[in-house]
This record gives sequence, C-alpha cells and structure tokens, in this order.
Amino acid sequence: AKYSQPIVGGNWKCNPASHSTLPTLVSNFEGVADYLSDCDVYVCPSNLHVSLVKDSFVPGISVAPQNCNFGGCGAYTGEMAVDQIKDLGLDTVLIGHSERRGEFGLPTPKESNELMATKLKYILDQGLKCVFCIGEPLPVREKGIEAVVEECTKQLEDIVPILKELEDKSRVVIAYEPVWAIGTGVTASPSQAQETHSALRSWIATAVDAKTAEGIRIQYGGSANAGNAKELSEMDDIDGFLVGGASLKPEIVDIVKALM
Ligand code: G3P
Repeated sequence: AKYSQPIVGGNWKCNPASHSTLPTLVSNFEGVADYLSDCDVYVCPSNLHVSLVKDSFVPGISVAPQNCNFGGCGAYTGEMAVDQIKDLGLDTVLIGHSERRGEFGLPTPKESNELMATKLKYILDQGLKCVFCIGEPLPVREKGIEAVVEECTKQLEDIVPILKELEDKSRVVIAYEPVWAIGTGVTASPSQAQETHSALRSWIATAVDAKTAEGIRIQYGGSANAGNAKELSEMDDIDGFLVGGASLKPEIVDIVKALM
C-alpha cells in the first residue's frame, strides 16, 4: 500500500558547468506540470545556481539547496544558512548526501550522523522541509541485508527524537541511496530496494512510532531512470525517486509519469 503522495527530486549535483545551460535543464521539467497535483517535485541545482533558477520552474516545483549550515548566519565561510534559504522563499533543503558524508573520498569534510541531526533540527525549526539522504557502500551491501539495515539505521538513529516530535511527517523525506548505485548505472533491483525500504519502515515503526512509519516517505536513489522507474515504483514501500544523472535530461518527465 502506498502511504502518501509520491515525491521525485532531481539532484543536479555540481552541474552544469555553464549557467547558459540552465534554461534547457529547467525546461526539461516543464512536462511535469500536469502531474504536480499527484506528485511532489523538487530540484536541487548547484548552490551557486539556486538563485538563478528559483523563479523559472513551473509553479509547484520546489527548489532545494543541496546542503545547509548547521546553524544560523555568522562566521561560517563557504556555508549557507537555513535562514538565508528561507529568506529566498525556498521551502526544502537536501542534506546528508553520501557525496557529502565523504563516501566518495571527495575533499569535503565528513559529515557525521550527529551533524545531520543538528542540521535537520535547524531546518525544521525554521519551518522548512528536509530530504534526508542515507545509504550503504558496496562492502556493506555485500555482507547482506542485515548489515545494510544496520548501516542505514545507524544514519537515522540520531534523528529519532526529532522525528518523534514532528507533527507533519511529510516534512521529512528519507532518500535511500545505496552508494554503489549512485552514478554507476547499477540500479538496486526492485526487490532489493523494496526489501530495504520495508525494513527501514519497520525499524522506524519500532524506533520512532507507527504514525511516523506510515507518514514518512522513502525515496529510492541510485541510477534511477525512465527505463527502471516503472518497475521500482510498483514496490509498496518506494514513494518516489531522487534522481541524479537522469534529472539533467528530458526523461525526468517519464520518471514522474512512472509514479502516476
Ligand atoms: O542524489 C541523486 C543521486 O545520488 C543518484 O545519482 O546519477 O545515480 O541517479 P544517479
């Protein structure tokens, strides 16, 4: 059974190289206009491009920065405060992507589970919504589902008290993105993804409560595309997708359509 309205996000990561390409990328989303009453859609442009595109999408699409500071404004060079995000009229922030948690060995600071909880609390206190990314690297997946669930729930443990207090459960979306599936063309199979989503939902029911488990949406991310979205979307516990590469292409419309 589907619990709530599906949700699709496009994560443009650190693309495109030239801002002159932005109108084309934005126009790829025009075709989702017809589905916005039945599917929530957000786009995460590079932080530098957020202001350039925030008013150019069809109304109803949220623009969500790919990260935020753990607190307010002040002496934090290179950071973006939730206060500033809110001030621009944006309503959603994505945090905890594995590329920021340090899984890809990029020269970014490793972002800890504790830091993620601080960020989430700040985002929610400011009245915004949050996409909270989690996922396991390949060596963990190779150990089997129990290890996967252990790793992913470790990434959720610190936010349990926050989720307990949250009145409107739709304000937090969990994006389950197995690290080995990101940008590799190797998608989790529908049954693999379903098994993980369902285990995460059961864990949430126990660790948080049944209301949260039912109300929270869990997106799948990792080489999702127009070709595999339909099959994945048929799984009971997959509430939508967080799309990287394919969100830079017109096929993003087909991914949204797959959920209808
Ligand atoms: O956040 C989206 C992401 O990490 C998945 O990327 O390119 O595998 O769809 P991709």
